Amino acid sequence: MNYDDFAELYDRQYDVYRDDLHFYAGVAERVGGRVLEIGAGTGRVTAFLARRGVSVLGLEPSARMIERGQERARAEGLRLDFVQGEAGTFRLEERFALVIAPFNALMHLYTPGEQLEALQNVRQHLQPSGAFVFDLYVPRLGAMNTLRHEGETFYHPDGARTDVFLIQRHDAPHQMLTTEYFVDTTAPGGAVTRRPYTLTQRYYTRYEVEWLLRCAGFGPPRVTGSFQGGPVTEASEVMVFQTRVE
Ligand SMILES: C[S@@+](CC[C@H](N)C(=O)[O-])C[C@H]1O[C@@H](n2cnc3c(N)ncnc32)[C@H](O)[C@@H]1O
Repeated sequence: MNYDDFAELYDRQYDVYRDDLHFYAGVAERVGGRVLEIGAGTGRVTAFLARRGVSVLGLEPSARMIERGQERARAEGLRLDFVQGEAGTFRLEERFALVIAPFNALMHLYTPGEQLEALQNVRQHLQPSGAFVFDLYVPRLGAMNTLRHEGETFYHPDGARTDVFLIQRHDAPHQMLTTEYFVDTTAPGGAVTRRPYTLTQRYYTRYEVEWLLRCAGFGPPRVTGSFQGGPVTEASEVMVFQTRVE
């Protein structure tokens, strides 16, 4: 799954998503030391942490996402460090006090083999008793196979508007959710151009993640149903996992 094509849409869609920022900054400040962020994207969380004085390195496979992250850094007068690589295969000399994987970054690991490889690799890059913290959405699916518009409309300075339509397909036996986006931009004169993108995510159940962590050498995680704490309930939209190397 390559995010190069998504970089611009991604910023437009998620720059406003702030639910997790103070949580990750709080964890980084409590743990102290250098942080590795897996799947850093265009640096939404990376930049927030850096602005708070946290020393953070963003690992990201997509060159285009990193480029946009660097553009953001320049625009904000920040220095951000990114390294190109994937969770399962990156190799760094450095050992970190904390590894984070915010906003569903682990949902791009599709098989148990890829997941375990990534978690073991993360563990290898942590200091003894280092912390690993990440969040995943709770699989609650909307209307499948139906064209939806979920209120995502962006207005451009020249008067054009972009509407994001989507169709989701659920592959239950493989726990995969594929979203086809149709990104329609209407020019001021009325001409419409459409850009399609496809995103496949592998969703997890809570206890599956607990077993994976155990298999990869992590201790029993603290699992909460929001970034503010509290248990995972029927109403939770996210599962937040906090664990340490055992
Ligand atoms: C949903 S985005 C999250 C981006 C960022 N963490 C944020 O909070 O805005 C998921 C990111 O994971 C990256 N990714 C995809 N496959 C990956 C892999 N195998 N290892 C690490 N990151 C991956 C994608 O390129 C994308 O930037």
